Amino acid sequence: MENSIRSLREEIAAFRIGTADELEAFRLRFTVRKGLIAGLFAQLKSVDPARRPEIGGQLNQLKAEAESKIEEASQALVSETKTAGPAIDLSLPGRRHFTGSEHPVQKVLGEMKQIFSDMGFTIATGPELELGSYNFDMLNFPPDHPARDMQDTFFVRHEEGEDDVLLRTHTSPVQVRVMLDRKPPIRVICPGKVYRNEAISARSYCVFHQLEGLYIDKGVTFADLKATIYSFARQMFGQDVKLRFRPSFFPFTEPSAEVDVTCYLCGGKGCRVCKKSGWLEIMGCGMVHPNVMRSAGIDPEEWSGYAFGMGVDRTVLLKYKIDDIRLLFENDVRMLRQFPA
Ligand code: DAH
Repeated sequence: MENSIRSLREEIAAFRIGTADELEAFRLRFTVRKGLIAGLFAQLKSVDPARRPEIGGQLNQLKAEAESKIEEASQALVSETKTAGPAIDLSLPGRRHFTGSEHPVQKVLGEMKQIFSDMGFTIATGPELELGSYNFDMLNFPPDHPARDMQDTFFVRHEEGEDDVLLRTHTSPVQVRVMLDRKPPIRVICPGKVYRNEAISARSYCVFHQLEGLYIDKGVTFADLKATIYSFARQMFGQDVKLRFRPSFFPFTEPSAEVDVTCYLCGGKGCRVCKKSGWLEIMGCGMVHPNVMRSAGIDPEEWSGYAFGMGVDRTVLLKYKIDDIRLLFENDVRMLRQFPA
């Protein structure tokens, strides 16, 4: 019996515990209920009763040694994992991070702004909640103009004897604000959101974007307007693009025109998008009406100017082949993620 105790003690002393698995193997071999130490305790019955206390003492001692070895080893293992930091599983698939990106409308607006700022235009902005006098009256809209109708305009305040408060229906009131605010020469573009009370469909929405332009100086002519629009259109839609100026009417310009570009999808041959005409309308424009200048305190005898206003969203739809304008306003990340930075 004493020999067995001695050899087990040697074995225990020599056992190397460096890992959690080895610690468990040690425990299973020596200290569990069916382990080797318990086996020796079981043999105690057959020992001479006179020697039993002594042998029993040796066994207790052996058991204590084994247990303290376990204790030591498990503490060493714990402090090792602590200093090594949290366990990293390098085989785990990575977590994907989505980076924000510019909305397609802002991308196209950005291109437009760049082209005009290269030509010397600076950016002016105005409020989306606008006064009726700026949105209509000072732009020479007659009192009975249909655009003033509730059917077309979102009114916020509409009271007898008070200036209307409304969601601007175009960016043209920013022209008025700029003219009231600065002295000519003036050369600005005014990008922004506008609102109209329209039936919502794939082709039209109650909110959309416009980019307005205004140039006032001495001796500005329609030829200046044409050259500016040509230069813009070539940079925006390609060098081969052709333009068509159609006579039109706006209360705030005289003469007025609407501008078409050759359809940049079919190159002017005629397709579904241009409705087989080969042309796409991109903007309205004209020479600033003397009444508009006068109402903003600028003398039309001394100064002249041109203005233009174009829709942004339609170009976005065509450029990115999006077939429903509502997608531009719904903020659905599944759509936005398709336009990475
Ligand atoms: N404000 C017009 C619209 O919303 C667009 C426009 C036409 C703006 C002619 C202009 C202009 O500055 O000269 O339909």
